[in-house]
Amino acid sequence: MAQQDERLYGGSSRRRVTVRDIAAAKARGEKWPMLTAYDALTAGIFDQAGIPVLLVGDSAAMVVYGHDTTIPVTVQDLLPLTAAVVRGTSRAMVVADLPFGSYQESAGAALAAATRFLKEAGAHAVKLEGGRRVVHQVEELVAAGVPVMAHLGLTPQSVNAFGGYRVQGRGEDGERLLHDAKLLEAAGAFSVVLECVPASLAAQVTDALSIPTIGIGAGPACDAQVLVWQDMAGLSPRTAKFVKKYADLATILRDAASSFADEVAGGAFPDEDHSYRLSSTAI
Ligand code: KIV
Repeated sequence: MAQQDERLYGGSSRRRVTVRDIAAAKARGEKWPMLTAYDALTAGIFDQAGIPVLLVGDSAAMVVYGHDTTIPVTVQDLLPLTAAVVRGTSRAMVVADLPFGSYQESAGAALAAATRFLKEAGAHAVKLEGGRRVVHQVEELVAAGVPVMAHLGLTPQSVNAFGGYRVQGRGEDGERLLHDAKLLEAAGAFSVVLECVPASLAAQVTDALSIPTIGIGAGPACDAQVLVWQDMAGLSPRTAKFVKKYADLATILRDAASSFADEVAGGAFPDEDHSYRLSSTAI
């Protein structure tokens, strides 16, 4: 019998990706992609494209709910999106972002929020932001059997403390970030997102850890790369320097909407091909 190709991206296995697969990819030196997802249809497309990990990010606050920051979004807002992404996929590991205010208070609060994402939405892991301050939360979740993705650097839930969206991890901050990454690994996190940090620092962290680093604006040395899908596909009107657009969905959608509107206004839609006869039964 032919051996299964276990690569996270491009492999032949169709079962759900697990934390063991992610650890094995780091051991093999395999690089892999991650995208955000917030609904069943797009999640299904990313799953078909072989994206092994999908994050239901608290970025939903901005790209789904129209807020200016990630701060207002709640567990209640993210639960149905997470459930939809799980239902729309069969292979990707689905990671639910714990929103601001749902885990900072205590390890117990973190476990209560994570429990809801696993039980009510079917998430396979959770993500939370922060360094040494959330080590207890990570330990509690891991002890309870919840895989945890950590997040360092520009952690958007702290935008007010940072005084805006700025590159993090210069000088002493960089040493602190490296130390925090080691603490989070020791606490049991299975991976760590590094957002908007110098590429040289991300390379140092990636070398120092045996869990994968997932970069977003963190240069090419990270084990994995993540983008918000609307940024990646050109739907977002404004994006940061680190975003590469792989499509121009905004133009495609605008053109489609205009063509539809023109045809309705001009009476060209619906035509006979898109109408039922008296004898029609099938939809
Ligand atoms: O919420 C989110 O989309 C994220 C990614 C950008 C890592 O945290």
